[in-house]
Amino acid sequence: MIAYLNGDFLPVEKITISPDDRGFQFADGLYEAMRAYGGVLFRADEHLDRLAYGARQLQFARHDFTTVKSIFVELLRRNSLENKDALIYMQVTRGVAERTHAFPPADTPLTIYIRVKFFSGWPDELQNGIKVISVPDKRWSQCHLKTTGLLANILAHQQARESGAAEAIFIRDGFITEGSHSNVFVVKDKKLITPPLSDYLLAGITRQAVLEIASGLKIDVREVAIPASDLEDADEVFITGTTVEITPVVHVNGKNVRHGRPGELTIQLQKEFNLLK
Ligand code: PDD
Repeated sequence: MIAYLNGDFLPVEKITISPDDRGFQFADGLYEAMRAYGGVLFRADEHLDRLAYGARQLQFARHDFTTVKSIFVELLRRNSLENKDALIYMQVTRGVAERTHAFPPADTPLTIYIRVKFFSGWPDELQNGIKVISVPDKRWSQCHLKTTGLLANILAHQQARESGAAEAIFIRDGFITEGSHSNVFVVKDKKLITPPLSDYLLAGITRQAVLEIASGLKIDVREVAIPASDLEDADEVFITGTTVEITPVVHVNGKNVRHGRPGELTIQLQKEFNLLK
């Protein structure tokens, strides 16, 4: 597998990153994960805009990553993925510097690492749905920034896995924020509901795609706070994300969502989403 680091294309096993990289020392980094379907990048501009937003918020030395798209295409080509389904991972850190909390000198180059792999998602889960558990949201108050500091996310996700569930849904102050690596939607009385954007959740690219589809279908959409209890009470629940697309949730905290099968509206949105890919 050929990957990209700071201007070079190299076999991934030949890539080394300094232990003084601030990504390693401090999780002082941002990342994006995006899909290519049949070799075509899916909403790459939106992903790169979100990365640029994070870079501005964190005062990185570079805020424009639009030219990086050509590197994605080149990596797909070099790995014979130009006609395939792939996952692209990009990480940007504040670069290599002796460990100190203060920012390094302004001319310190950012570390930019990009990797691709063949990826076809989880077809069984898309069709049959998943189990989830809810967990307290113990993360910081800047969850709208896609930083590599994901310790609370991985602990929550691991807890879900160990309890036989496929995703953990965070609850903060009694309300749903998002999943460990996904956004959350519920359907109640034919209304499609998702938490409004705030500093406590990521503005998911898939979430946005679903909102656009729903508005095209004239579905009644509400971006309002969802009490945790609605997760177990909803007519339908689904999660959205680059890796999970639109995955039905059929079981929450040990109980079926309605009849324990993917809901009608969820399936309709999945079909429309597949047309966009
Ligand atoms: N995660 N919320 C969180 C906390 C996420 O980590 C993700 C995606 C999402 C969905 O965002 P999008 O639709 O833009 O992928 C929401 C990626 C896939 C990951 O961490 O691998």
